[in-house]
Amino acid sequence: MKPIPTIAVPVAPRLPLQAALDLARAQTDDHIAAEIDRHDGQIAKAMRYAVQGGKCIRGFLVMESARLHGVGLQQSTAVAAAIECLHGYSLVHDDLPCMDDDDMRRGQPTVHRKWDEATAVLAGDALQSLAFELVADSGLAAQAIVELVLTLSRAAGVAGMVGGQAMDIAAETAQEPLTIDEITRLQAGKTGALITWSACAGARMAGENTVFLEDYGTNLGLAFQIWDDVLDVEGEAQLVGKAVGKDSAAGKATFVSLLGLDAAKRRATDLIEQACDDLSPYGAEAETLREAARFVISRRN
Ligand code: IPE
Ligand code: IPE
Ligand code: MG
Ligand code: MG
Ligand code: MG
Repeated sequence: MKPIPTIAVPVAPRLPLQAALDLARAQTDDHIAAEIDRHDGQIAKAMRYAVQGGKCIRGFLVMESARLHGVGLQQSTAVAAAIECLHGYSLVHDDLPCMDDDDMRRGQPTVHRKWDEATAVLAGDALQSLAFELVADSGLAAQAIVELVLTLSRAAGVAGMVGGQAMDIAAETAQEPLTIDEITRLQAGKTGALITWSACAGARMAGENTVFLEDYGTNLGLAFQIWDDVLDVEGEAQLVGKAVGKDSAAGKATFVSLLGLDAAKRRATDLIEQACDDLSPYGAEAETLREAARFVISRRN
């Protein structure tokens, strides 16, 4: 049996998913703008551009898990802003010609298309360091900050997002197709690590056990990437806000390429059911997190 975390009485009432996402987006956007707008120049402009217009799922996961653990809005906003900066950086670099070579992101030209590659590299670098600055400056207890910084470094680095991205690029030219276990590891790295970190952040801020949120985040992260891969096949570029039909052309290793669309969707549905079950110890207060999980496999962008 896993130890049950002590769940504090939430400090704020639970909102339905759309309202909670809107709140997370507004809060993180204000917080990031206040930081970046203190700086002039093209890199600052590109940084702002790169963090706007997303769904803010990761920021939402931070704020909702924080709410569940009795952490106040001001502190959870800083940490939510941090993960959206880190995620924004990962997208700017993911779109570069040496990576996925994409021209559209969130319905707009990618950063290297709007400006140039050097600007995209540097704006991404600066967003990454801003993420750690925001956590360090969040006003949380020193112990919580150290814990968040340590775990975020691991989730973002070679054992997490960057490691997964490296496997993703290597798979394009691999001699043999990847196995299901290898694709699961690849996706747990490139996408799962930041999503799991976001889901666990609230418990970490409160100094509580992350076990249940860890399971939820792991299942959610994998389903999230499977659905991203489904949208690459089934989605419309206009709605998705980025080019579609590129994964198979590039030889990407995905659940869709290995199992086909129907089996990949079934896998995503099973993972989301499991993710919802993982939240049982939190009872009805976790309903917005369950709603988010169901949204992940019904979204059209
Ligand atoms: C896109 O993430 C990259 C993946 C990990 C699949 P999102 O779908 O969360 O992108 P935004 O932030 O809403 O644009
Ligand atoms: C990107 O996965 C994951 C990260 C940015 C870490 P994808 O390459 O599939 O994401 P999209 O489809 O470009 O958003
Ligand atoms: Mg990619
Ligand atoms: Mg990409
Ligand atoms: Mg994709």
